[in-house]
Amino acid sequence: MCGIVGYIGDKLAQPVLFNCLARLEYRGYDSCGIALKGSRLRVYKDVGGVKELERTAPLLEGTAGIGHNRWATHGEPSQANAHPHCDCSGNIAVVHNGIISNFQQLRQQLTAEGHRFASQTDTEVIPHLIEKYYQGNLEAAVIMVLGDIKGSYAIIALVVGEDKLVVARKGSPLIIGLGDRDNLVASDVTAVLDYTDRVIYLEDGDIGVITANSVRVTNGGTEVSRQESRVRWMVEDAQKGGYEHFMLKEIHEQPRVIRDTLIGWGSLAESAVDLAAMCREAESMVMLACGTSYHAALIGKHIVEELIGIRVRAEPASEFNYCHPVLAKTAAMVITQSGETADTLKATQKLKAAGCKVLAITNVMGSSASRLADYTVYTRAGPEIGVAATKSFMAQLMVLYCLMLSSTDAKASRLADLMAGVRQLPEKAQQVLNNESRIEEYAHHLSGYDNAFFIGRGVNFPIALEGALKLKEISYIHAEGYAAGELKHGPFALLRKETPVIAILAHDNTYEAMLSNIKEVKARQSPVIALVEEGDKTVGKLADYVITVPQVAPLFSPVVNTVALQLLAYYAARERGCPIDTPRNLAKSVTVE
Ligand code: AGP
Repeated sequence: MCGIVGYIGDKLAQPVLFNCLARLEYRGYDSCGIALKGSRLRVYKDVGGVKELERTAPLLEGTAGIGHNRWATHGEPSQANAHPHCDCSGNIAVVHNGIISNFQQLRQQLTAEGHRFASQTDTEVIPHLIEKYYQGNLEAAVIMVLGDIKGSYAIIALVVGEDKLVVARKGSPLIIGLGDRDNLVASDVTAVLDYTDRVIYLEDGDIGVITANSVRVTNGGTEVSRQESRVRWMVEDAQKGGYEHFMLKEIHEQPRVIRDTLIGWGSLAESAVDLAAMCREAESMVMLACGTSYHAALIGKHIVEELIGIRVRAEPASEFNYCHPVLAKTAAMVITQSGETADTLKATQKLKAAGCKVLAITNVMGSSASRLADYTVYTRAGPEIGVAATKSFMAQLMVLYCLMLSSTDAKASRLADLMAGVRQLPEKAQQVLNNESRIEEYAHHLSGYDNAFFIGRGVNFPIALEGALKLKEISYIHAEGYAAGELKHGPFALLRKETPVIAILAHDNTYEAMLSNIKEVKARQSPVIALVEEGDKTVGKLADYVITVPQVAPLFSPVVNTVALQLLAYYAARERGCPIDTPRNLAKSVTVE
């Protein structure tokens, strides 16, 4: 949600903080701020993005500081609500990601004790509590504060008079980047890649005291040793690399992502052993996730049912958390790019409490999902910066295909065909990208509408959901994904010349029904853009526009259809002048319920 960063070392902290904040901007971007510790504390913050703040900020001295990108939860985006927040004396500053659930009660108490608050945020109670407990030792004061606050947090605190940052983590991610003569702290590793590839992933309950040349971590009052890890991601992975937007770069990276997953199949196969064992013992499987990852789960359901032959329930984690008793003999899979989505983590906890073994598919090493789950499979997407999930979704699909192909007992001839098909997917995805200029033309056309429907059946129903999600989140065109057969049960009332329908077809048992659905839509005057495989001779006679994708086995059609729909959404949003990488009101990782 929010992004936090801290620096202490031998460099001027201000440019480092701005650079780290710019890399973390995808986590939140309605306001931002920094606090620098020189001979006194200086805070500079405002609504808007990092670049704007950097342009207007005076040069603040100091080689230690903290920074924050905000995604508003408590109080509107405003200068007062932007972080860092300070105590009454202005000597203590704090940045925080998470939610302090008992802040109102604490605020009342502190107000009665004479503390004056400047914002509507939950966070502001923290510097005031530190002020209340501070007796010359920031670490000791923070430990006392943690006894008072409830909720989730990643916190970085600093105080004039002590050359250290004190950090704490519970339920929100926090890493320490280890430098030579300096150290950094951040919500995730992409923030520190310009400075170091050596990181420590903090655990829940950890409190860290960080100076320019030392890191000490305690948990429950005992000093603990947290392993140093090398980050595989390169700094170039988190840069635009000449593309106009991260999203476009990430769409174009998908053939590489597919290839990397296939190359890493060997290590996936080890997870498949766990999965196969899980499935053998289980009577059913549940797949849980949110947003785009939920769409991957819906496709996963098709893949598992077809290749493994057990019944799968795929549900939004946010709904699962409030219904259904969990059956103990359920194999469970959670899918989350960030590994930090609050609803997905809560679902994981619920599954574990019911005695289920959970396999997590995530893109982020050391993420909360990987800590909670019994088994973790890491996707090979690399860092995804655009808020709209693209290559991370593709990487999830590829993991699902590979895991299930490794676990299936399908007939040898069918398996051989599928194996041959999956190996061609990097090239097939590239072929869709080669058709980019044609898709851009259709997107230009689509960009003029205010509403659209996406329809599909079978394994392409989730692709209709995903196509609609991509279009609405980045272009702000209202789009609905629908099971094609459901359209006539209500949404037909909305069909007219101004309501285009994007129909996604595959040459499987849904094809004939889809043709009928297209005819029904056309009879209501709606323009139809059809997505169909090359060589199809029928759909062109029915639809107004046809986007062709390369031929693949129907089970793999989500791969090529996804790339085409991502490009369609991207170019429609570009035509409408939308802020594609940072759509309004959204954040890359949603760490609140
Ligand atoms: C989609 O483009 C979004 N970024 C969003 O729906 C996302 O997939 C969802 O918030 C889940 O995130 P996760 O994969 O990190 O759990």
